[in-house]
Amino acid sequence: MQKLIAATWKMNKTIEDAINFIKDFKKLAVNVKNAEIVICPSFTSLQAVSKELKNTNIRLGAQNMHPEDSGAFTGEISPLMLKDLGCEYVILGHSERREMGENDKFINKKVIAAFKHDINPILCVGETLEQRQKGETEDVLEDQLISCLKGVSNSKGLVVAYEPVWAISRGNPNAKAATKADAEECHLFIRKLLAGIFDEETAKETRIIYGGSMKPENAKELLSMPNIEGGLVGNASLDAKSFAEIVEAVR
Ligand code: PGA
Repeated sequence: MQKLIAATWKMNKTIEDAINFIKDFKKLAVNVKNAEIVICPSFTSLQAVSKELKNTNIRLGAQNMHPEDSGAFTGEISPLMLKDLGCEYVILGHSERREMGENDKFINKKVIAAFKHDINPILCVGETLEQRQKGETEDVLEDQLISCLKGVSNSKGLVVAYEPVWAISRGNPNAKAATKADAEECHLFIRKLLAGIFDEETAKETRIIYGGSMKPENAKELLSMPNIEGGLVGNASLDAKSFAEIVEAVR
């Protein structure tokens, strides 16, 4: 299975910054064939980045979307609008959005809407430090996955991102990622859950990627694990060179 490395810039970069990044990154990652690369800029840069990515095999993703096609939802962005811009992926259920009040029920609506519009959802799940310390990691992953995938019958294109909340850098380059063993254990558990929700075949075909302080120094190690099929990279994706190094780490 081809690994997937996605950059999520969160609330960073102006349009000009975004264009400069893509120009630099294209030069650095020109020969990359071993990984599927997705860039998820902020909404304001989607159009400019989409233009820059024309005629490349780098794909465009968004960081969020509303489940409805249109309507009175001030400040929201619909799946149709993302399709319009050429988005093939959308990140859903990120812990930073869950912290702002998004719950599994709402995330589930978004996942269903993404499939309806043929946008591949990158569904984020993961436990907080407190939940891990209480030994609740598996329960949390199970609850989140089952609730967010409720009513999904055809999950083709689904990507699950295991993102332990305690490992997310929040901009701190010294933050610690999960160990490869801890991450692998959770990825394997997620795969078992997917087999229960769908079937063995689907579980095997679904890419489970890791997010939380992935950087050039640890990418190779994490990506060498059998059940880690890519990365969702925040802080270390803001710099073209460091993101290119992570992409190069895929073997
Ligand atoms: P990070 O962010 O790489 O900065 O830890 C990852 C994420 O939040 O998806």
